Amino acid sequence: MKLGTVELQNLERVMEIISRSQEQLNSIAALDWTLSMIEFLIKSSQSMAVFDEMSNQRLLAFCFYENKGDICEVMVLATHPDLQGKGYMTRILHSLQQLFSEIWLEVHEKNSNALKFYLACGFIITGRRKKYYKDNSDGILMTWKRELAIL
Ligand SMILES: CC(C)(COP(=O)(O)OP(=O)(O)OC[C@H]1O[C@@H](n2cnc3c(N)ncnc32)[C@H](O)[C@@H]1OP(=O)(O)O)[C@@H](O)C(=O)NCCC(=O)NCCS
Repeated sequence: MKLGTVELQNLERVMEIISRSQEQLNSIAALDWTLSMIEFLIKSSQSMAVFDEMSNQRLLAFCFYENKGDICEVMVLATHPDLQGKGYMTRILHSLQQLFSEIWLEVHEKNSNALKFYLACGFIITGRRKKYYKDNSDGILMTWKRELAIL
């Protein structure tokens, strides 16, 4: 397992992971993902990803984020559905927690796996985006702050 950034050559694999995560992401998401949106993300955002060194650098998990100085705003993150629960996203978030003193993100109120995961990573709920999603569900705003973290 190796950490790196998402490059254009990973475009199809990112699309595959997002499409396969539909139940958790797409069907409830604020928008439908297209290849050109992901291409734009790769070109315009920062990213951190986990690659499998044993299988030709296959991308296993990714996080796209915006670097706002000392603050990191997560745009979208996902682990391949067949590979969840193996610690890949924990690895990515821990690395971001080394680089930034604050991390912001937003999650669908019914995405209980992600909510539990963020709470376990030390995030706290800081607000709500009312009816943010297509299904009229709220988006939960969450923040991790180094100053509040138990080191
Ligand atoms: C949320 C998500 C990113 C976690 O990634 P991951 O690589 O599986 O996370 P980790 O392996 O580091 O696991 C962290 C914890 O979450 C739990 N977890 C992860 N996926 C899970 C699943 N599908 N069901 C139940 N628990 C899960 C793990 O058990 C682990 O807890 P533990 O270490 O106490 O056992 C992943 O479930 C995912 O990609 N979901 C679909 C996309 C998504 O919802 N993105 C978030 C949008 S805001």
